[in-house]
Amino acid sequence: MPPCRSHWSSRLGFVMAAAGSAVGLGNIWKFPYVAGQNGGGAFVLIYLAAIVLVGIPIMMAEFLLGRASQRDAIGTFRHLSGRRSLWCLVGWAGVGAAFILFSFYAVVAGWSLDYLFKTLSGQLDGCSPQQITQTFRGLLASPGQMIGWQAVFVTLAAAIVFRGVRGGIERCNKILMPGLFLLLLYLFVHGLLSGGASRAVHFLFFPDFSRLTPQMVLEAVGHAFFTLSLGAGVMITYGSYLDEKADLFNLTLKISLLDTLVALMAGLAIFPVVFSAGLDPAAGPGLVFQTLPVVFGTLPMGRLLMLFFFLLLAFAALSSAISMLEVPVAWLVDEKQWSRRKATTSLTVAAFILGLPSALSFNRLSAWTIVGNLTFFDFCDKLISSWMLPLGGLAVAVYCGWFFRASHQAKKALLCASSDRAFDYWSLLIRYVAPVAVALVFIHQIGLF
Ligand code: PHE
Repeated sequence: MPPCRSHWSSRLGFVMAAAGSAVGLGNIWKFPYVAGQNGGGAFVLIYLAAIVLVGIPIMMAEFLLGRASQRDAIGTFRHLSGRRSLWCLVGWAGVGAAFILFSFYAVVAGWSLDYLFKTLSGQLDGCSPQQITQTFRGLLASPGQMIGWQAVFVTLAAAIVFRGVRGGIERCNKILMPGLFLLLLYLFVHGLLSGGASRAVHFLFFPDFSRLTPQMVLEAVGHAFFTLSLGAGVMITYGSYLDEKADLFNLTLKISLLDTLVALMAGLAIFPVVFSAGLDPAAGPGLVFQTLPVVFGTLPMGRLLMLFFFLLLAFAALSSAISMLEVPVAWLVDEKQWSRRKATTSLTVAAFILGLPSALSFNRLSAWTIVGNLTFFDFCDKLISSWMLPLGGLAVAVYCGWFFRASHQAKKALLCASSDRAFDYWSLLIRYVAPVAVALVFIHQIGLF
């Protein structure tokens, strides 16, 4: 074990941090809008199947590998399979993915900070849905505002990662996660009691299989990886700060359940408004920012609740962003013996610079497309969500299921699986079901069948 390696102070601290990583913009911002763009029910069904059959077993595998090696994402593969092994590339790809993800995630997280500020200053008070849409467009059209908030956000993330695992990451998440959950619960109940509820439930849970396309399946599977923070070395790194005793099997189930609940609750809070205010469910990335202010406008104490909501959205984004930043930081600290301070500062500055063209993709650089019709932001998002995370996860599944040289017994002990049968199910999923399912999606995507 590398010297002086810090550990979570408690199991709860670990769960909150891992759940904090999983629950983020992916659940509240991304899930509703990609589900909306992909026609609802069929997408949700595939996403849920991907969580159970692919996401959960791979999360267990990432935790297991991190705990076994007690090292960062690259160090894990180096330690477990040898310095020259090609598997180290999986660690490298994870570190790269986490870094790129951090760069553009901060742009969207900046929007929530901007909305927080707008709520505080009363700019959203009494606006009609159309005015709120206009406000959102106005934000996208102003590079200065977006970049300013992006800078604030990366600085906040850096300040937490700077303080390390216990003092920063763990302490923050313990407060943020329960707060977010309670507020969403309130919005969800409110959504269910409101006018558009039955259309929303129908939209989200009654699959229209005519919408099923290979592209949509790829997006649903990709989103399952994104929302559970898989394939980017995050859960390997977080697992490496774990002591020997925690029952990973159980904890993973809890974390994934919480993550899925938050996404579904966010969907059920947002879609009733979309339908009752006559908005377009396929409106794209602005969906949350254009719908929730409308709901809040109609609620008693709406402004206060809206304030809480954007505060917690920003916090949810922050707890995910710190996990992304922690992956390359842990690598520089563990393997290159950099100080935490130097690693955090350099990576944050670099990620901020890489994030600039993403922020400009919504205005100055909107006409600049890279491949296909994608702006720089869309390209980064596609590259990470649809390709790198699923491929990283696939590699983890294959490695853990077939190449990780540990006995059945040792793997079982690392997972602390409560029963033999549970462990056997996991083995089946990680060795056969998860890799085959993800590989099929890719092979189809590339057009090989
Ligand atoms: N799971 C996070 C979210 O839902 C995003 C994330 C992906 C975080 C990959 C870390 C690694 O917002």
